[in-house]
Amino acid sequence: LMRHVSAVSPLSQLKWNLWNCGIRRGVKVAVIGAAGGIGQPLSLMLKLNPLVTELSLYDKVDTKGIAADLSHICTSSTVRSYFGKKQLIGALECASIVVVPAGMPRKPGMDRSELLDANASVASIVAKAVSNACPTALLAFITNPVNTIVPIVAEVLKQEDAYDPKRLFGVTTLDVVRAKTFIAELLGIDPQAVSIPVIGGHAGKTILPLLSQCDPKLELDSAEKAKLVSRIQDAGTEVVKAKAGKGSATLSMAYAAAHFVNSLLRAINHEENIIECAYVQSDLSEAEFFASPVLLGPEGIEKNLDLPEMDEEEEQRLEDMIGQLNKEIEDGVKLVAC
Ligand code: NAI
Repeated sequence: LMRHVSAVSPLSQLKWNLWNCGIRRGVKVAVIGAAGGIGQPLSLMLKLNPLVTELSLYDKVDTKGIAADLSHICTSSTVRSYFGKKQLIGALECASIVVVPAGMPRKPGMDRSELLDANASVASIVAKAVSNACPTALLAFITNPVNTIVPIVAEVLKQEDAYDPKRLFGVTTLDVVRAKTFIAELLGIDPQAVSIPVIGGHAGKTILPLLSQCDPKLELDSAEKAKLVSRIQDAGTEVVKAKAGKGSATLSMAYAAAHFVNSLLRAINHEENIIECAYVQSDLSEAEFFASPVLLGPEGIEKNLDLPEMDEEEEQRLEDMIGQLNKEIEDGVKLVAC
């Protein structure tokens, strides 16, 4: 197949894929990095999702055991196992959604550039394969550093003539999940009753929870707000430290990704009013990629909603972090160019 697709033009390749995928109805979700700390619980949650008809599990290491294990769960989706470079195209072929938790997690003391070196090539390989095997799939990247990985994927897809900004997402759902949880703890309420937009990026101070837009309303003074914002921004480090060298957030991330993928699935099924915060190509700020609430539809992003309102402190935080976010985006673009 790899030989076949690389020999044809992008348009005929796309037609071939659409024709081939049309034969098999249903929604195939591919998990790339399925054997990992996030990949395994995420695959479990997707096996439980009735909107998934086929679950494709791919990793560079063998996924046979994981697939056999999950396949015994009495839900109606089919589970298939793929591993190694040669099977990546097969794993992706006809996928409607590709979710990517492949790559190295942050270890204590590891800086962003070390993580980027390790994960940029993984993201590029996956992007290239997606452009061949399933160019119309919705593509959700979990791999860190998300701020840079998503622009890298966009550049690779552009090179392959397969970039559609409406279909590419950096998954920032965990920031929203954490914000809801920490706010609910403060208010003593059910986290599911909290609604809060988290915008910007997905690292340190680029994560900007808009506490002023929280529903229910938060009555906090400036110092209390700053403390809560810091906790949300540094929540990843809280887990990295607690795991003491054994990785970063996996279970909460799997929950967050399963939630995000479920929203994509609902949108594919023409359910209306599905809104999620995600890191996407954007013209809402000075940064080319920016996380904000987006309205989802069957083709991916239906509408990038306006920036939520902000109070003065939040506007200042946005101004303070936009340089860092731009730099991290630029790093990705440069890496692909050279
Ligand atoms: P892990 O090391 O447990 O799993 C990663 C998996 O990716 C492994 O099974 C590995 O074999 C696989 N892999 C590596 N290179 C691959 C390739 N070229 N093709 C296919 N599979 C490949 O790591 P974990 O904890 O699951 O984290 C995965 C990624 O998710 C990390 O980059 C981490 O930083 C990121 N992450 C993102 C979050 C977010 O909010 N977006 C939150 C937490 C982690």
